[in-house]
Amino acid sequence: MYRSDCLLKENNTIAWPTWPQYGEEEKEAVKRVIDSNQLFAADRVREFEDNFKSYTGTSFAKGVGNATQGLHLAMAALDIGIGDEVIVTPYTFIASASSILMQNAVPVFCDCDPQTRALSAEKIARHLSHRTRAIVVVHMFGYPADMDPIMELAQKHGLSVIEDASHAYGAEYKGRRCGGIGDVGVFSMHQRKSLSAGDGGVVTTNDPEIDEKIYRLRSFGHKQLSYNYRMTEFAGALGLIQLGKLDTHNQVRQDNAELLERLLEDIEGLDVIKPLPCAKSVYYRVLLHFDREKFNCDLEEFSSQVQDSGVPLEMTWTLLHKHPHFNPEKVPARGLPWEWSTYDGVMKGKKYNSLSFPIIENLCDNHLLELCVHPPVSEKEIAFAVRMIAKTAEKFSK
Ligand SMILES: Cc1ncc(COP(=O)(O)O)c(C=O)c1O
Repeated sequence: MYRSDCLLKENNTIAWPTWPQYGEEEKEAVKRVIDSNQLFAADRVREFEDNFKSYTGTSFAKGVGNATQGLHLAMAALDIGIGDEVIVTPYTFIASASSILMQNAVPVFCDCDPQTRALSAEKIARHLSHRTRAIVVVHMFGYPADMDPIMELAQKHGLSVIEDASHAYGAEYKGRRCGGIGDVGVFSMHQRKSLSAGDGGVVTTNDPEIDEKIYRLRSFGHKQLSYNYRMTEFAGALGLIQLGKLDTHNQVRQDNAELLERLLEDIEGLDVIKPLPCAKSVYYRVLLHFDREKFNCDLEEFSSQVQDSGVPLEMTWTLLHKHPHFNPEKVPARGLPWEWSTYDGVMKGKKYNSLSFPIIENLCDNHLLELCVHPPVSEKEIAFAVRMIAKTAEKFSK
């Protein structure tokens, strides 16, 4: 029996706990940085990088200002350039694909696998061209993609693989941690992420040459054009503390996902989505599958009804091929790499917003719901969420 009454507001809604929840330890760490008067990348960032590479099991880890910078550095370090094509999922945050444009390369969106909702080797193979140079795999919401076939395909065609592991701290595929399987891994430490430092990011690799390039490109002052993409000591200090708590926090997410799964068993038409049997999800968000056939309402109506009670059961973001970055009203100063006269690849003469990706479009429009189960969300909130979901399911049940 789970008690949730203590959380209820007068109008029978709930305030879903916020994330992150920093305490004295984090406040002290920030204060120590201020007192040291060493605010930009130094000892704390280095210590964080050392601990992070142990955590992911990679040979190298470099702290950066955020994952968008990390993704851009990954593209630059892999020498992705003008007119090159990079295959990427449309089911992700803008940075996974805008980083391709930052190198004047061309994003080639690809449909997803219905089981993992990530790219698959089979889907990627349909988009290969003489211009393909790399693949960006995103372990969306902490659910790992099926990496082995993707790595095999990439090796066969001489392509690089970037893992956007921004949601996947600690997630595993066949016993290996996400972010350490491809050529480069990128993690976000944005406030909302499982390892939160306000803003920050990490780039991981096992390749010393790539690591060296990331190092040189991260901070200006070298002979080649480079950026200022350094991590601050504040982010390093917060990252160190949060990394120490990551496994405990991930266990809470896992327990919440399992409880949600058990409590939803009696509700027909709604199920917690599981990772591949060979993988471990870290449930940055728990995904639910909504069976449209069982209800008299669409996904939007269902989720907004549950949200009225304060439970953040949400639909996903708009898929990226519809995003204004790829369909701009005004052509940016550098032009659009897929419209340059020298470009002869798969996007030549095509418009992004007229592309179609039936599997992931159908999942996002009709079936996928996500719930944030970060600590301190506990069994009380999960039980309340299930009651609200059950009430809504009953109202709309066919
Ligand atoms: C999948 C994914 N990749 C990259 C990013 C970019 O992260 P950052 O805000 O650290 O630049 C995000 C941020 O939400 C994300 O969700």
